[in-house]
Amino acid sequence: MKYSNTVYGYKDGKEVIEYRLVNNQGNVFRCLNYGAVVTAIEIPDRSGQVENVVLGFDHLKDYIKDSPYFGAIVGRVAGRIKDGRWGELQLTKNEGQNHIHGGNQNFSQVVWDSEMITGADYTGVLFTHTSPADDNGYPGNLKVQVTYYWTNDNCWKMKIKAVTDETTLFNPTNHTYFNLSGNVKRTILDHTLQVSSDTFAETDREKCPTGRLLSVEGTPFDFRKPVRIGHAIHKQPSGYDTPFKLTSGFIQLFDDSSGRKLTIQTDREAVVVFSTTGMNEDYLVAGEKMSSHRGIALETQELPDAVHHPQFQSIVIHPGHTYTCQTEYQFSVEDTLS
Ligand code: BGC
Repeated sequence: MKYSNTVYGYKDGKEVIEYRLVNNQGNVFRCLNYGAVVTAIEIPDRSGQVENVVLGFDHLKDYIKDSPYFGAIVGRVAGRIKDGRWGELQLTKNEGQNHIHGGNQNFSQVVWDSEMITGADYTGVLFTHTSPADDNGYPGNLKVQVTYYWTNDNCWKMKIKAVTDETTLFNPTNHTYFNLSGNVKRTILDHTLQVSSDTFAETDREKCPTGRLLSVEGTPFDFRKPVRIGHAIHKQPSGYDTPFKLTSGFIQLFDDSSGRKLTIQTDREAVVVFSTTGMNEDYLVAGEKMSSHRGIALETQELPDAVHHPQFQSIVIHPGHTYTCQTEYQFSVEDTLS
């Protein structure tokens, strides 16, 4: 295993470092201490061609200016909180009347402290950040640790820990957009997606959950068996920006043309699937304008807007308790989907 780090730029007078982790197979995982952003995961296809399978930019200025949370850790709370209200508390309203992804200067937009770590079968990076009390209206000084491990068998493991000194909210995610075709040479419409989910959260016009969990049975939201994403979107033309409640924490993405497979295993309650349908941006990703279906974000988290829906898992955390969660992203190559 090898690793190196280089200065990628500066933000708020702080050095932004890019870590390059190389496993025993020669496959590369790159990430920044800015937003704990995963900038690249370079793995082989069926013929051995090594290419990047996540969306990202080439320069820090693009991450700062344009990023729709490419590769980043999102928090304190991922997704929307209706009216930015938690009881008597008013959180920043940074999307119309609602709060989204932790507000302004959230976890994705700050430089984290970081250090390299190594173990018997991995190299990794430990990121730490303290979000001060009243950050975007949230109570409590919240100390967060995010650890990325890149293992010799092409698994990216993510562990998150946090402690607070006042009761507060916490529902972090990683917001990587995947495209297994390699270097974004095709859209994700030919990928197949499988999600271990019997129910999804209905959302209103502002994409906030209504509180109703609907059965996937007989709907375009049924991914219990692998479904070609293009086929699903044909039935659901507005695409997916959808919280799925997980039954076993299993999510799988497969690209038959390249043979690349991503198997996600998480201990979180849900995954928000964001298919980028309708995205039409001025910025470039892999040399072309960002548009519909150039990637798919699979955001493991607790169900969004949980503070308004007692039937969703609570995201309240208390002093004296260490919050932990983890998600593993295993990459492999398959002839066919078994
Ligand atoms: C949300 C989308 C949003 C995207 C970028 C996703 O997590 O669900 O609605 O457009 O993040 O902010």
